[in-house]
Amino acid sequence: MSILAHASPDLRSLGASVEAAQMNAARTLLRELASRVADAGDMLAGLPAELRAGRAESYTRHIAYADPHGAFTIAYLIWRPGQFSPVHGHKTWCTYQVLQGELSETHYRWDPSTRTAIPHGRVVRRPGDVVTAVQGLRQIHRLGNASEQVAVSLHIYGVAESDICTGVNHLVQAEGRTDSARP
Ligand SMILES: [Fe+2]
Repeated sequence: MSILAHASPDLRSLGASVEAAQMNAARTLLRELASRVADAGDMLAGLPAELRAGRAESYTRHIAYADPHGAFTIAYLIWRPGQFSPVHGHKTWCTYQVLQGELSETHYRWDPSTRTAIPHGRVVRRPGDVVTAVQGLRQIHRLGNASEQVAVSLHIYGVAESDICTGVNHLVQAEGRTDSARP
C-alpha cells in the first residue's frame, strides 16, 4: 500500500468533508453521552472500597465495563495526591466524570509549526462535573490530582478494552515542561 504524494484538489476537498462529518458525529455523540453520564446515578457505588486507595507508583485504572462488541470501554481512574497524566490529545472520543475529590485539568493549544502543546489555562473539576473531548489535537490536556485527598473519576473511551493502553492517549510534547513534573 502507498499514499499518493500529492492528493488532487478533489481528494483534499473530500478529506475535509469526511473530517467535518466525523467531527459533527462526535460532537453529537458527546453531547448525548455527557447528558447520560450526568443522569447515570452514583457511579462511585460500583467501585469496591478496596480499590479506592490507588497505588503509589502512578494513577490506577480499573475496567468497569467493556462493550462486548469492542465499541467502548468504561474505567475508573484512581488518582493519589500528586499523580498526573502526561500531556495528551486523544486517538478516540472520550468523556469523564469526577466522582470523588478534585481533579486539576490544564488545557493546551497545539502549535503545528513547532509541534508543541502550549498551555492556556487550568480548571479544577469537582464531583459531578462531566467533561468530553473529541478525537485529535483540538483538545489537549493534562489531568491529575493537585489536592491532598485521593480523587476518583469515571472515564468512557471509544475503544475496545484491549486497546485502552495504546488507543486512547495521543502523547505530545508540551512547552516548558516534562511529564514527571507537577503543574
Ligand atoms: Fe484525556
